[in-house]
Amino acid sequence: MSTMPHQRPAVAGLPAYVAGRKATGEQVAALASNESHYPPLPKVLDAIAAASTRVNRYPDMASATLRDRIARVVGVSPTSVAVGPGSVGVLAQLIAAVCDPGDEVVFAWRSFEAYPILCQIAGAEAVRVPLVAERHDLRTMAAAVTERTRVVLLCSPNNPTGTSISTAELIDFLDRVPGRVLVVLDEAYREFVGAESPDAVNLLDSRYPNLCVLRTFSKAYGLAGLRVGYAIAHPDIADGLRKTQIPFSVSNVAEAAALAALDSADEVATRVAAVVAERPRVEAAARASGWDVPQGAANFIWLRADDATRERLVAAFDAAGVMVRGYPGDGVRVTLADPASNDRVLAVLAAFGRES
Ligand SMILES: Cc1ncc(COP(=O)(O)O)c(C=O)c1O
Repeated sequence: MSTMPHQRPAVAGLPAYVAGRKATGEQVAALASNESHYPPLPKVLDAIAAASTRVNRYPDMASATLRDRIARVVGVSPTSVAVGPGSVGVLAQLIAAVCDPGDEVVFAWRSFEAYPILCQIAGAEAVRVPLVAERHDLRTMAAAVTERTRVVLLCSPNNPTGTSISTAELIDFLDRVPGRVLVVLDEAYREFVGAESPDAVNLLDSRYPNLCVLRTFSKAYGLAGLRVGYAIAHPDIADGLRKTQIPFSVSNVAEAAALAALDSADEVATRVAAVVAERPRVEAAARASGWDVPQGAANFIWLRADDATRERLVAAFDAAGVMVRGYPGDGVRVTLADPASNDRVLAVLAAFGRES
């Protein structure tokens, strides 16, 4: 007889979240986790240093200063903003606020691997709708909504395939989904989309109060290690999110860094533009090496591959000191970085193409 305390069966059956591997050694290019390759901005470092003198105190539980600031930047009322420990933390709060055991959450697959894990923790049923041509199949997703569906998760740009959803497609989808279903648009990579980036927040007024937009400071703003993300939603939903937040889960250091990152918007935009400028070059060169790379809109490229090819490709990257992310059954995702790192990626792909 086991003497260990009980754990819920849902937890015992959980797959572990597989994070991108950590890079060790100077020659290693860390391209497995879609992080910013830039070091923290000077203003951010100053703000972290200043806030570090206050870590004997709890942070402001409401993150009110950051919340107000995000509201101004985005153009909504602060009552529509809820801040949390990374956008994945906010999503966990959201599912906890919305789903009872047995409720359904519809999402595209393959997409961000935290989605099925968060559903399972909440006891919600994950309904996966296969991608078509690496994109969300929005018509089939709308048709998958049942009486039990509480949430549809849309990921744009989609992790790991990089494809994005246009404003017209989003509106068409919202028109097909009943207003009782919360539609969560995960925009972790929105800053990398470019000029045509749809502003979903504009749709969130009286027209689509069931839309909730998730954003993060982890990617473009370079604060992955500090854990700050947020939702923009109808005030009732934002209120529910604040209620399900673990108290004080956004630290005062994280809040100060996020505010300083917003103060550094021009530098952030310059860095994002440099990454985005590399994307067509890297995609074109990867295609020239024989890969069928979809047109991406984020800070990574997607290489679909069967398992044997994936294993050999990840090994080839490893041998070249390039850490990438392999997905069993699907392929390999490679984060875009500076031109020199991207060239290392392309050299591996070119050599791999010649060997195959
Ligand atoms: C689509 C997507 N959403 C959310 C996240 C999590 O971001 P955060 O660091 O804000 O929790 C990631 C991280 O990889 C992601 O790819």
